[in-house]
Amino acid sequence: MLRLASWFVVSCMAVCTLSAQSIQFLQNKKIWLLTTSQNSYAMGLGPDGQLEHIYWGAPLWRTDDLQAPTPKRDISSFDPHQMLENEEFPGWGGPRYYEAALKITRSDGDRDLVLRYVSHHIDGDSLEIQMKDINDAVDVTLHYRVYPAVGIVSRWATITNHTKQEFTIVSAQSATWYMPPGDGYRLSYLSGRWAAESLLNREPIHEGLKVIESREGHTSHNFNPWFAVDNGSATETHGQVWFGALAWSGNWRIAVEQTPYRQVRVTGGLNPFDFSYPLKPGDSLTTPEFYGGVAQNGFGEASRLLHDLERAYIEPHGLKARVRPVLYNSWEATGFDVNEAGQLQLAEKASKLGVELFVMDDGWFGKRNSDRAGLGDWTVNPQKFPHGLGNLISQVNRLGMDFGLWVEPEMVNPDSDLYRAHPDWVMNFPGRPRSELRNQLVLNLARDDVKEYIYGVLDRLATEYNIRYFKWDMNRTFSEPGWPQVSPQEQQELWVKYVLNLYDILDRLRAKHPNLEIESCSGGGGRVDLGILRRVEEFWTSDNTEAFDRLRIQEGFSEAYSAKFMSAWVTDVPNMNHRSTPLEYRFLTAMQGALGIGANLNKWSEQDTQLATKMIAVDKRIRDTVQSGDLYRILSPQSNDTSANEYVARNGEQALLFAFRHSQQYNTAPPTIYLRGLNERAVYRVESIDGKLLDKQPEMSGAYLMHHGLNFRLQDDYDCTLVILQRQ
Ligand code: DGJ
Repeated sequence: MLRLASWFVVSCMAVCTLSAQSIQFLQNKKIWLLTTSQNSYAMGLGPDGQLEHIYWGAPLWRTDDLQAPTPKRDISSFDPHQMLENEEFPGWGGPRYYEAALKITRSDGDRDLVLRYVSHHIDGDSLEIQMKDINDAVDVTLHYRVYPAVGIVSRWATITNHTKQEFTIVSAQSATWYMPPGDGYRLSYLSGRWAAESLLNREPIHEGLKVIESREGHTSHNFNPWFAVDNGSATETHGQVWFGALAWSGNWRIAVEQTPYRQVRVTGGLNPFDFSYPLKPGDSLTTPEFYGGVAQNGFGEASRLLHDLERAYIEPHGLKARVRPVLYNSWEATGFDVNEAGQLQLAEKASKLGVELFVMDDGWFGKRNSDRAGLGDWTVNPQKFPHGLGNLISQVNRLGMDFGLWVEPEMVNPDSDLYRAHPDWVMNFPGRPRSELRNQLVLNLARDDVKEYIYGVLDRLATEYNIRYFKWDMNRTFSEPGWPQVSPQEQQELWVKYVLNLYDILDRLRAKHPNLEIESCSGGGGRVDLGILRRVEEFWTSDNTEAFDRLRIQEGFSEAYSAKFMSAWVTDVPNMNHRSTPLEYRFLTAMQGALGIGANLNKWSEQDTQLATKMIAVDKRIRDTVQSGDLYRILSPQSNDTSANEYVARNGEQALLFAFRHSQQYNTAPPTIYLRGLNERAVYRVESIDGKLLDKQPEMSGAYLMHHGLNFRLQDDYDCTLVILQRQ
């Protein structure tokens, strides 16, 4: 936690009155000040007991500066004062027309909800504020957790029914975030589709509402629950950037709104679309955690703060997690045509290359010879594996590799024994069509019996076999989300209960099998979010493994997620879009994440094998820096003929520069690349892995590397290079 340490030292030298407490309550003014290494967040009580947002920006140190929210006056009968009060968690009630954080319907039809402060409790880096409706005991606990070292505050809410009647929640958000008043803001978000996930968009925010969301049951390929807002001029290295990421793997929504009063607000949580959640007296609903921060130095810093948060506080083993091993996966080589001899042949070749984790993909179970049958029947196919999986796994282990297995537990093919036995286990509306996608239906995991079945299957596999890793896949979106076994009023709880049960299975599996690692895959990057990351080690980024396309997908991914979790394979060419890039290009692209090989090794030439062996050895020298270091996006693959990324180890000892030329023009030199994040006074040994660096000095200072920059001989299309800097 270098950043925290240096923040406290610098702060205490500059301002001795600064408290090291991350949460302060100023009793006389009724103001809460949350402070991290990078930013401060303040809120206070308004004249009527409403909780109002006051500040979210660069760190503040003088609490006397802060002023309680002032009373606002109606501008007109069309512009009530409530619309000018930046309520932290506004209920839908009174004259409030912006996005509400909470909307309910009482059993008598009363839908008015006005929340007022009741009490609060501070416990270390956590704060809970108790709110309540002005009339009845609709209670809301606002949760805040401060991560001082990484510049992040997380927020979520628990809604509890302490009234005597049932009421129904129709919208439950985690938080509303406020930018400083003004306009000219810009929104960054990630969008895409299958095989083209997480592409970065940046566009002006105008008055009105922009929504990014999933209505599909999983996190979705179409949008990712991350946003960034800047004042219109931030760059990778300069300017304030407000950002947030929502930890939820089901239907979510982030609404970015500019009001007519020059106020930008971002509200996010459970998607209100088709949402209805009845709460009986005594029951409660907790919304997902919404993490937010403000970076003072551009989009690059915003990403690094999120990466730090994820590695230290979100991934299951935190900073104790092992470096991601080099993985081999058979999918692109074999498709469904898996068998013991074929897998062993690949495993032997993979182990010689230096692979550490061998994963067998789809096709090993039931009657799974294509995507038309077998899902749900999680028994080993005896024709393909006459000795069960035991022999294959022990051979893989003998070759020095761990074994991983593909599963898709949430799904069923109609052509399966499971579906024939339990047609009622899928989500459906009785008498209506059951839409198949990829010939499969979605099991209703909101049902506890389905949950127990899935847990049992996976637990048995992990108990019977030495499985180190499950690749957990999920290959379609929800449709007809009916749950006929419960009352009509409860059916829409499915959207939430499905996700909670998914999390429960993963949590129990991990608790029982502490060495088990899990990859979150949903037909590529359809389930990439901070909620699932609490339970998995890697994300499958995209089914598009074509290296040039991948650079853009990886760029967007890196805005929100660390390279450590970004599974990236080297596969064969021509790839899905018919493009062919050199093997070195494919390796250097994939080595910017958790490296995997997905090629058919039986088809590789001796030359390919030699290059791959060399690149995997290089990867093992640098992967800790890629996975746990600071990322600097130097040139974007979106707008330049050359793109470049740099990774700097947290201890400053190693730095890596990856550069890619996409489409050279004859006799036009690629741009000089100026490094970042180095120590000006330090001297680095410079190693060009392929001799394409034109600056030949064996050692260079940080000042030279950052200010003079490096020049390369990158003269072909899809040319690429890697420079390794080692601090002397
Ligand atoms: C979709 C995944 O994204 C692929 O990597 C592969 O596992 C297939 N499913 C298998 O059906």
